[in-house]
Amino acid sequence: MTVRNIIRMGHPTLRKVSQPVTDPTLPENLQILTDMVDTLEHVNGAGLAAPQINVPIRMVIFHVPAMRTEEPLPMTVLVNPVIEPLDDEQDEDWEGCLSVPGLRGLVPRYSNIRYSGYGIDGQRIERQASGFHARVVQHECDHLDGILYPQRMVDLRWLVYESEWPAAVSELRAERNQADDHDQ
Ligand code: NI
Repeated sequence: MTVRNIIRMGHPTLRKVSQPVTDPTLPENLQILTDMVDTLEHVNGAGLAAPQINVPIRMVIFHVPAMRTEEPLPMTVLVNPVIEPLDDEQDEDWEGCLSVPGLRGLVPRYSNIRYSGYGIDGQRIERQASGFHARVVQHECDHLDGILYPQRMVDLRWLVYESEWPAAVSELRAERNQADDHDQ
């Protein structure tokens, strides 16, 4: 079991475009994957990208916990992922990031996507996703292009410390409800 250090916002690797993996089945890639899984399980997170352990290659892992959705997904690795939105629909929800500890932000993401890539066995993976599943894939794949979620935010008022977050959620809800009332 190897829990690796997770680098934080400001580290140059988190701004880099990561390199494609030439052959997912190489033993060194399995070693990186194993370390990523150990690290993510240690901190009990939903997803992790290789650059977050300072390995700038195009590999992400994620899972969808049962509490998040009716369609939970076990820990999945995706090598050289490609994402394609299925339509223009976006929704906003709160995100956190292990490289931006202590904060949460309201981030717009595509609601429905198709994604593809390779497993660590070299097998091609193709899936459609929506909701939390689509969100976590977009968040993790952004890391491979040097993008952290605050860069996706449209309203930085909703970048908040975790201790302030419950109050911010209520405030946002009230603001949105008020906007709905005005629309009617
Ligand atoms: Ni992240």
